[in-house]
Amino acid sequence: MFVLVTGGAGYIGSHTCVELIKAGFEPVIIDNLSNSKLVVLDRIETITGKRPLFLEGDILDSAFLDRVFEQYSFAAVMHFAGLKAVGESVQKPLWYYENNVAGTLNLIKAMERVGLRNLIFSSSATVYGLPKSVPIREDFATSTSNPYGASKLMVENILTDVAKVNANWNIATLRYFNPIGAHESGLIGEDPKGIPNNLLPFISQVAVGKLACLSVFGDDYDTVDGTGGRDYIHVVDLARGHVCALEKVLAGAGHFVVNLGTGNGYFVLEMVKAFEAVSHQSIAYKVVDRRPGDIATCYADPEYAKTFLGWQAEFDLTRMCEDSWRWQSNNPNGFDA
Ligand code: NAD
Ligand code: WQD
Repeated sequence: MFVLVTGGAGYIGSHTCVELIKAGFEPVIIDNLSNSKLVVLDRIETITGKRPLFLEGDILDSAFLDRVFEQYSFAAVMHFAGLKAVGESVQKPLWYYENNVAGTLNLIKAMERVGLRNLIFSSSATVYGLPKSVPIREDFATSTSNPYGASKLMVENILTDVAKVNANWNIATLRYFNPIGAHESGLIGEDPKGIPNNLLPFISQVAVGKLACLSVFGDDYDTVDGTGGRDYIHVVDLARGHVCALEKVLAGAGHFVVNLGTGNGYFVLEMVKAFEAVSHQSIAYKVVDRRPGDIATCYADPEYAKTFLGWQAEFDLTRMCEDSWRWQSNNPNGFDA
């Protein structure tokens, strides 16, 4: 059964392709390689024994999408393609709205043209803005404070409206918390361009000697150690959550919104310690001002994912750090040789 995976050469998409192949699906990746490298296909093949089909192209290109949908008969689309850096989105809002919102509109319209109405969409816990409390349930209010978050929420709203008028659509909106870790093989993982924005890639690049010192963004939050708390989730757990969501979509579940998180919050200094313990490297850090827009604590209520999808995260923090470290130390320059 073919599944179209937009952005499948990227961090979460590549791990999901591995899990799709393991579950017996045939992923077909489309990606413009703006934030990924072709070598990931070799790595997926080494892990699974199967090379995913790959078509280079852009979701903004409707004619390209039409050709892809003519060429293959897909059971569903998993839509990862998009831009994801919060700070960059503030500097380049139009680029973010175009890729994330117009790109998704293009995709949905192309799907409509061939009558394909099964979709899994990558949303983010960022749509909860400043949550009224934690753990965060799916029915909490949404709000955003930057173009990246706004683009995700706009797409969520578009999908809600599309599903409202046509009951033939089956749409899983998956709100990811903080994906980290890598495949246990150490062959695929996160490969950020330039200086990482996110905590774990930054810590792992300090551990491997590429960066000198972590800046801890604030230690005066109202939390146990004063630093920010997040729900870090192993990317393989996240990928498996997608396969569960796909099964629901294929069973005709309609439109649903699910958190993909663990339900645990870890603080920045706990993350530093956990990474030091598995890597046996010391992570130099200094406390600096809070990062504008950051919230104190954010973690999921994972109950609905458990009852509705039959999915829950399995890997603990040590395993997340071990797998991140294996990927980073085996590939200090990411996918570059
Ligand atoms: P990623 O950048 O590694 O993967 C995205 C892929 O999409 C890349 O391979 C990129 O080349 C491709 N792409 C981007 N724009 C495209 C376009 N217009 N046409 C075709 N391909 C395009 O990012 P990721 O971490 O794997 O994230 C995947 C999705 O999950 C994104 O939509 C992101 O917003 C969402 N998400 C990510 C996180 C996170 O922390 N990584 C958290 C929540 C949600
Ligand atoms: C985690 C914690 C920081 C870097 C972002 C996006 C969100 C989602 C996931 C896509 C916070 C602290 C970080 C550093 C630090 N992405 N930190 N020093 O901010 O929870 O979420 O990525 O959807 O939309 O906003 O993740 O990894 O950037 O930060 O102290 O160099 O680590 O303040 O407490 P965040 P993060």
